[in-house]
Amino acid sequence: MVRVECGARVGLVVAALLFLLLQARLFAVQTNYADRIAQAVDGENKCSRSKRALIDQFSAQQGKIVALEDEREKLENKNAQLSVLVGEYRRLGKAAPVLEKQKPVAAVVIMACNRPDYLDRTLKSVLKYQQPIAQKFPLFVSQDGPMESVKAKAKSFVGVEYMQHLEGDPATRNPGEMVAYYKIARHYKFALSELFDVRGFQKVIILEDDMEIAPDFFEYFEATSTVLDCDKSVVAVSSWNDNGQKQFVSDPEALYRSDFFPGLGWMLTREFWDELSPIWPEAYWDDWLRLNSTRKGRQFIRPEVCRTYNFGEHGSSMGQFYYQYLVPIKLNDVLVDWKSKDMDMLSEERFNKELARMIATAMPITNLEADGLQMVESVNQDVSIEYESQSHFERLARKFGVFEEWKDGIPRTSYKGVVVFRWKHKRVFLTRPDSLEALGWKGDLQ
Ligand SMILES: *[C@@H]1O[C@H](CO)[C@@H](O)[C@H](O)[C@H]1NC(C)=O
Repeated sequence: MVRVECGARVGLVVAALLFLLLQARLFAVQTNYADRIAQAVDGENKCSRSKRALIDQFSAQQGKIVALEDEREKLENKNAQLSVLVGEYRRLGKAAPVLEKQKPVAAVVIMACNRPDYLDRTLKSVLKYQQPIAQKFPLFVSQDGPMESVKAKAKSFVGVEYMQHLEGDPATRNPGEMVAYYKIARHYKFALSELFDVRGFQKVIILEDDMEIAPDFFEYFEATSTVLDCDKSVVAVSSWNDNGQKQFVSDPEALYRSDFFPGLGWMLTREFWDELSPIWPEAYWDDWLRLNSTRKGRQFIRPEVCRTYNFGEHGSSMGQFYYQYLVPIKLNDVLVDWKSKDMDMLSEERFNKELARMIATAMPITNLEADGLQMVESVNQDVSIEYESQSHFERLARKFGVFEEWKDGIPRTSYKGVVVFRWKHKRVFLTRPDSLEALGWKGDLQ
């Protein structure tokens, strides 16, 4: 009995232990499931959140598509309207300015007064090269005074806009002065105000009624216009070299900085005009532009070979120079690919360095006055000759036949005192004792 009881008790304990074990196991499984369910619920929440975000995004995109479609419709309407307009312009025989017009590089103005034959020759020369690129260089004739034959001549050309300046004779300041210089200065002010202030051009090229131009005249100005935009130490570009006579030039691609305003076929910016216009002088405007007080230490760009040829024997200021200096001028006759030229070579830093290098490596000649020009001709390289004073410069210049004249303390064409020209294709540098130093030369040939 006791054995039986004992056996049953052991069985019970074993059963109880088994039960407990089962319970613990069940509990563990349950907890595991609970965790998983929580995770699943969490996951579902996340899912529906991103689903909502996606739906939001989708409807936003849908809205955008609708807006874009509206826009497209509007543009198509506009396009259709423009096509109608263009068609109408074409029918009227005009170009379609709305779509095809290019921003002009510069307005071009020919200053005229009382020489209809000269104006005719100038206009024919300019139109020959301007017509194919007329939108880049709109052409104007500005006449000073009432002469009818000049007006009729200007108006007889297609593609030329005519302007007229009519005012009584100005008073001169000093006895014996020619009124022409006063009239010219006033006419320049009129034409430049008209083109910059009234018509809003950014640049203007000024020609006179006795000039012919070179085939690459407009390409030259288009390329150098970037110099005016980028380099504020340059105030104008000229197509003229005072020492541009045949015997003194050879390289059609060479360009120089100059402290001396060359004039005659030149381009200026609105910015410089805004500075000049309130103080524009009553007379002698070109010599006024040569004063350092006007240019304030800034420079001009000029070519070695001229891009304008002055045929005006009977001018108000040029008569005395005509046969000596103007007739023998070399007008460039080759096409230079100006678009591919690196205009940065004209920057102060690079130009000064290169000019100084050329001077420093040239053969110095010290006794030109005694030895004559044979000395220059016998060497096979560029030469440099130093001048000590204005009168010394004038004697040297006379030997070669280049301009002797000085204005406001500097010789024509000079830069930092350097006058450069060719002699049998070699360069001749007439230099001041301090020119190399003024160019920033430190004796470094690398
Ligand atoms: C020319 O003007 C500039 C700026 O106004 C000045 O720095 C320079 O010294 C002047 N040069 C001469 C030679 O007077």
